[in-house]
Amino acid sequence: MQDHTVRVWDEPLRLFHWTLVASFTAAWLWQGDRWLHLHLLAGWIFLALLLFRMVWGFTGTRYARFSAFTCGWREAWLWLREVTQGGGPRRLGHNPAGAWAIFAIFFLGLLLAVTGIVTQGGEERHGPLAGLFGFATGAGSHLLHEALAWGLLALLLLHVAGVVVESLQHRENLALAMITGRKRAVPAGLALDVPRRRGVAMLLAVALLLFILFWLRGSLAGGDDPFLPFVGPELPHDAAWQEECGGCHLAYHPSLLPAASWQRLLREQEHHFGEDLALDPDTVRRLQRYAVGHAAETTPTEASWKILHSIPAGTSPLRITETPYWRRKHREIEEAVFRSRQVNGRFNCDACHLDADAGSFEDGAMRLSRAAGLDDERSGERA
Ligand code: HEC
Ligand code: HEC
Repeated sequence: MQDHTVRVWDEPLRLFHWTLVASFTAAWLWQGDRWLHLHLLAGWIFLALLLFRMVWGFTGTRYARFSAFTCGWREAWLWLREVTQGGGPRRLGHNPAGAWAIFAIFFLGLLLAVTGIVTQGGEERHGPLAGLFGFATGAGSHLLHEALAWGLLALLLLHVAGVVVESLQHRENLALAMITGRKRAVPAGLALDVPRRRGVAMLLAVALLLFILFWLRGSLAGGDDPFLPFVGPELPHDAAWQEECGGCHLAYHPSLLPAASWQRLLREQEHHFGEDLALDPDTVRRLQRYAVGHAAETTPTEASWKILHSIPAGTSPLRITETPYWRRKHREIEEAVFRSRQVNGRFNCDACHLDADAGSFEDGAMRLSRAAGLDDERSGERA
């Protein structure tokens, strides 16, 4: 007998489903500060899709509606028993496990988005909640955000496993049904096609596309301007510091090391990494006053907070590049890159960070390949 199929999943639902998968995957792959703008783009799309799905749960076609979800405790229990005993009744819409999975994915997904926004506001001082939280809250939220992401991944894998099991039991490719929208109608003739909703799907697609273009306008236009400028309080600047400390390398912003480190560096200025800075006592005092007054303890940037919290209390490292936070952040950069002509040493922060001079070290101000020509350098070496 020829199989008779009916349209079960409407167009917007299918578009939602696969773009949600794509946005989660993209956010997962784009981790790390270098990719933060893309991670955020994926995260906002993820949130927008969840919100759309909530509305669609009340306004969509038959099987998209929450009211069609069979998800009572009793039903879920019965269903589970049937399945463990080798197959239960086949359903056109979501089965109870599917419905539960969807609600759990929703719940974790929303929490994931919220903790992401809190993290961004607390740690990066960007986004809708910028500056409302301290760095500690941001860091705590960051941990929670990562835990939630793993939880959601586990849930998604469970969901996929469920789809595979049910597809096998009922000899029906459910993943394909989420693409075509059609499922086998058994017994034939009883079920009816859900109406088409192509217009809504088109609107959703266009909105997503516009959003992506809007978000990427900075990178697409090119140029080295950080497209997410520093929005914190203006960081201090000192002419004498620039003059005395900016001759051989970048005049490191004092927020990058604790006060005790600067005191030590200036006290030992005659033996500065093999150089004698030959500063007179007055200048030393002046520079000390400036550096200590704006050291990591007193200047609130993400870098200063994290550097300070990564070093053992009471220690005074002489190198920023030896602090655990710095090492962690630059762990993945190959030695050859640091030794390349364009960078010429890991202490040359400004080769990769366009705002190194200002001390803000924004994620948006990292133009690794363009600023330092690293891509050329690397391909040159390989050749
Ligand atoms: C005469 C040149 C010279 C001047 C002027 C100078 N430095 Fe340096 N500085 C060096 C050298 C050389 C190094 C080591 C670079 C390397 O890693 O090979 C260094 C390294 C440093 C580092 C460690 C960088 C890292 O690896 O994290 C700090 C911090 C630093 N200097 C601070 C200062 C301060 C503050 C002043 C101004 C009081 C200053 N320097 C002035 C030559 C200089
Ligand atoms: C060869 C290029 C390069 C050099 C040189 C370099 N960095 Fe970085 N830095 C990076 C990259 C790439 C990242 C992002 C790592 C990631 O994706 O997690 C980064 C990340 C950071 C971060 C974290 C930014 C954030 O918002 O979380 C800070 C702070 C930082 N660097 C400070 C410095 C300082 C200070 C120096 C100089 C002592 C320096 N970097 C030298 C490439 C460089």
